[in-house]
Amino acid sequence: MSLDPSALLGAASQARQYAYAPYSKFLVGAALLSPDGRIFSGCNVENASYGLTICAERTAVFKAVSEGIAQFQAMALSVDADTSPCGACRQVLFEFAPNLPIYIGNANGTLIRETSLDILLPQAFGPSNLQ
Ligand code: THU
Repeated sequence: MSLDPSALLGAASQARQYAYAPYSKFLVGAALLSPDGRIFSGCNVENASYGLTICAERTAVFKAVSEGIAQFQAMALSVDADTSPCGACRQVLFEFAPNLPIYIGNANGTLIRETSLDILLPQAFGPSNLQ
C-alpha cells in the first residue's frame, strides 16, 4: 500500500452520510486526495428522473475540478458491500488520474480492498487519443 488510506476512507464514510438515494437505497461516499493533501468528497445524488442520478465518484471529481484541482493521488470509497466504481465514473476518473489508486471501504471507513484505475479500465480512451 503506497499511502495510509485511513483519513481518505474516513472522509468517504463521512460523505456517504449525505448520500441522497431514496430510490436505490444504495449509499455511496467518495473522497479524492489532491496533490497538496486536500480532500474533496462527494456522495451519490439520485433524482426522480432516474437517469439524472450522479454517482459519488463523479460528484467528488466535479467538485475538485471546479475548484481548480485536476490531479489526484488516490481515491477512497465507502459502500455497503465490496463494490467497484461504475463504467461512467471510471471514464471520468481516467481523464484526470489514469493510474489512480482506489481504496474501497465499508460504511464505517474500514478498508475492504485496494485496486487501481488502470486495472479497472485497461486500454482506455483518453486525452492522448485526441492529440
Ligand atoms: N453509485 C455510485 O454512487 N457509484 C458507483 O460507482 C456505483 C453506483 C450510485 C448511483 C446510484 O445512486 C446508486 O449507486 C445505485 O446505482
